[in-house]
Amino acid sequence: MFSLKGRVAVITGASSGLGLQMAHGFAEHGADLVLMARRIKRLEEIAADFRAKGVRCLPLKCDVTNTQEVNSAAERAIEEYGKADILVNNAGAAKDNGISTMTDEEWDFTISTDLTGVFKVTRAFSKYMIERKYGRIINISSIYGLVGNTAVDTVAYHASKGGVINLTRAVAAELARHNITCNCISPGFFETELTADALNTEDFTNFMGAAVPLGRYGREGELNAAAVFLASDEASYITGQNICIDGGYTAI
Ligand SMILES: NC(=O)c1ccc[n+]([C@@H]2O[C@H](COP(=O)([O-])OP(=O)(O)OC[C@H]3O[C@@H](n4cnc5c(N)ncnc54)[C@H](OP(=O)(O)O)[C@@H]3O)[C@@H](O)[C@H]2O)c1
Repeated sequence: MFSLKGRVAVITGASSGLGLQMAHGFAEHGADLVLMARRIKRLEEIAADFRAKGVRCLPLKCDVTNTQEVNSAAERAIEEYGKADILVNNAGAAKDNGISTMTDEEWDFTISTDLTGVFKVTRAFSKYMIERKYGRIINISSIYGLVGNTAVDTVAYHASKGGVINLTRAVAAELARHNITCNCISPGFFETELTADALNTEDFTNFMGAAVPLGRYGREGELNAAAVFLASDEASYITGQNICIDGGYTAI
C-alpha cells in the first residue's frame, strides 16, 4: 500500500522545513519530484542530492505570489513529466502583528503568500489534472486556521490559514467530478526556519507544555505519513478533509 511509483509530486516551499521533509517522504515512496521555491540555488543543491539517490527531480524557481512565475513553472513541469499527479501547496510565510497595529503591507504580504498563493498554484496545476482525470491536492494550513491563539498576535496568518481550510473544501467539491481529491493538513508546532526563533524561547516552550497534550514539538518527518497517505491511490475516497497533526493541541 501507499506506493507513489510513477507519480509526479509537485511541492511548493520545498527549499526548507516541512516542504523539504515531505519531498523526502514522497521520494521514499517512489514519486518523481518537482520542487518549487524562490531560493533556486538551494533547490538545485537539494535536487542534486535527490538525483544522486536515483530520484528524478526538477527544481523550479517560483514565487507563489507571482502569477506569471506560477504559470510558467506549471508549464515547465508538464513539459518535463507530461503530468502532475500530486500537488502540495506548502509555501508559507507571515508577518506577525495584532489586529489594531497590523499594517496593510503586513496583511497583504501574508494573505498573498499563504492564501492567494494556494489559489494561484492550484489554478495553474488543476487544469492539467482535469485533462488527465486524476489528481491529489494537499494544502498545508495550520492549527491557527482553526482556532485563535494567545501566544503570538498574528491575525493575517489566522485569516489566511482559515481560508485555506475552506478553499480546500470548495476545491474538493468542484474537482471531485474529475477524480481529483483535495485535502488539507494542519500542522501544530514544528521547529523550522519559519518558527525556530519563536519556539526556542522559555516562554513559548512553557506555553507549549501546557497547550500540547503530547508535551513536545513536532519532529522532523512527522507530517510525512499523512501526506503520503493523502497522495496515495488508497486515499481515493477521502476529499475535503482536514487532518491536524498537532500533538493534540486542537483536541483540548
Ligand atoms: N513549522 C510549523 O510549526 C508550522 C505550523 C503550522 C503550519 N505551518 C505551515 O507549513 C508550511 C511550511 O512552513 P515551514 O515551517 O516549513 O517554514 P519554512 O521552513 O520557512 O519553509 C517555508 C517555505 O516556503 C517557501 N516560501 C515562502 N514564501 C514563498 C513564496 N512567496 N513563494 C514560494 N515559496 C515561498 C520558502 O522557500 P523560499 O524562501 O526559497 O521561497 C520555504 O521553502 C507553511 O505553509 C506554514 O505556514 C508550519
